[in-house]
Amino acid sequence: MLDKKVVKLLNEQINKEFFSAYLYLDMSNYYYGKGLAGFGNWFKVQAQEERDHAMLFLTYLQNNGQEVVLTAIEGPDKKYDNFKTPLDGALEHEQFVTASINTIYEEALKVKDFRTLEFLNWFVKEQGEEEKNAEELIQRYDLFGSDAKGLYMLDSEMGARVYAAPSLILD
Ligand code: FEO
Repeated sequence: MLDKKVVKLLNEQINKEFFSAYLYLDMSNYYYGKGLAGFGNWFKVQAQEERDHAMLFLTYLQNNGQEVVLTAIEGPDKKYDNFKTPLDGALEHEQFVTASINTIYEEALKVKDFRTLEFLNWFVKEQGEEEKNAEELIQRYDLFGSDAKGLYMLDSEMGARVYAAPSLILD
């Protein structure tokens, strides 16, 4: 039996991960609309990863005999002023998700829920990578994005990203 507060936070995390998928799909749509199909692809793959994250939280709750509570997913209301705005937004959002995962971790630690801590370890590591990727994108855009040729190359590179299933597998 898992602690009630931990279960509540895990359920809320499902919503946050699906919202992340929505947010990144919105960014993907923005870039496709601007003719930057590589950026569009990159964010579409990112959205697929977020859906996977949501499903991992859902499966973890199911595997532990807990009720899964699905709530309404907010629509993204991001206004993108220029090509860089979504990149800054993505980093900000990942920092928000990291804080959210850390909150669940703290709660699980408080009640000595070692099973959930073990599950969350993958996400703690993953968030480190997510923030690093978002930071690198900003850095690369700052370096190459202001010049048309550089932007073209960057877009081509981002178009090569392919979806891969998460390394964490829950039966
Ligand atoms: Fe599911 Fe990008 O954190």
